[in-house]
Amino acid sequence: MDKKVTQQVTRATFDEVMVPNYAPSAIIPVRGEVSRVWDKEGKEYVDFAGGIAVTALGHSHPTLVNVMREQAGQIWHLSNVMTNEPALRLAKKLTEKTFADRVFFANSGAEANEAAFKLARRYAFDHFGPEKHEIIAFYKSFHGRTLFTVSVGGQAKYKEGFEPTPGGIKHCDYNNIEQLKAIISDKTCAVVMEPIQGEGGIIPADIEFAKQVRELCDQYNALLVYDEVQSGVGRTGTLYAYEQLGVTPDVLTTAKALGNGFPVGAMLATEKAAKSLAFGTHGSTYGGNPMACAIAEAVIDIIDTPEVLGGVAKRHDQFFDGLKAINEKYHVFKDIRGMGLLMGAEVIDSLAGKAGEIVKAAAEEGLFVLVAGPNVLRLAPSLIITEQDIADGLARLDKAIATVIANNQTA
Ligand SMILES: Cc1ncc(COP(=O)(O)O)c(C=O)c1O
Repeated sequence: MDKKVTQQVTRATFDEVMVPNYAPSAIIPVRGEVSRVWDKEGKEYVDFAGGIAVTALGHSHPTLVNVMREQAGQIWHLSNVMTNEPALRLAKKLTEKTFADRVFFANSGAEANEAAFKLARRYAFDHFGPEKHEIIAFYKSFHGRTLFTVSVGGQAKYKEGFEPTPGGIKHCDYNNIEQLKAIISDKTCAVVMEPIQGEGGIIPADIEFAKQVRELCDQYNALLVYDEVQSGVGRTGTLYAYEQLGVTPDVLTTAKALGNGFPVGAMLATEKAAKSLAFGTHGSTYGGNPMACAIAEAVIDIIDTPEVLGGVAKRHDQFFDGLKAINEKYHVFKDIRGMGLLMGAEVIDSLAGKAGEIVKAAAEEGLFVLVAGPNVLRLAPSLIITEQDIADGLARLDKAIATVIANNQTA
């Protein structure tokens, strides 16, 4: 019997029943199509946020909807004690298309990183002994919200009040090889980096820095772990950003766009490194779930094509031209930067801390954008966003910025 009662909920319901760790906007989106979203009242938005760099193929992609329906009608869940066809197909695909020989599936970026950090510790333990356990990461980096990933992450605010956090973790400045040289040692088991820092403010790695990090890892027998949770799956114009840096990591984590919104994450590793997560050392009930893997396989098939990857640079240019034109008009940004469709615009000092105000004003105009810290406006749209949607969204951003400037002049 199909007896479904739909409860009425509003934004106020959040404050009544949810843990207060988020502060969602009052907008209630109910439907999306590629890069347009409609809320409950029927107001339409252009989506430059992509669910925080997740919906790389936009909303309601017809192939993904079909794959999901088909898999749902076959089998939803198996557990890791069964041979799982969608997971194996996806793993084969990921190993064929990247440096990696082996894959571990998780459900999120943090879990993929948790696996990577555990692998790094275990690999060093197996090959060099327990003394070699230090993980080096970079200030401003973000690797997730589990206790281990906030500890490796380079932002103190995410650790505060959760101490004692796991030990054996050091940090230094990103793009500063001298600082890394000063702290790396025979005790280092891994260096962890985002090829472009996302949450930290859209800061790309210098190619020379990235190469020297690789060399230092080789010199000290440390694994190089690339966190491509945000930069991966085509966002920068190649399937993974490492391809553009001329550096190959030993371990790479991916999530976000991999499922285009269906939860899935993966840790990719070389054969040699992967051996250290031997039978029984790590696991996940849902990791490799057939639904997630069937969808992710279709996502990879669609994104890893000349049409989609080849279109990223063109769209990047349209965004950059538009952002520069807005800046010539209002002089609000001191830097516009990024790779592919992971873009940041840092506000001038007199608007410091006001990136969030632009996000709110943009929503009023019918545009979703993001921040990356208090001073950087972040754009992470679908990789298949149309020229028209980019133009319309930029026109709305222009209006939003005019409002923010006017508000700050009268304030
Ligand atoms: C680089 C990076 N790593 C890890 C994470 C955590 O991913 P998740 O929220 O899926 O756990 C994020 C999320 O923003 C991220 O940007």
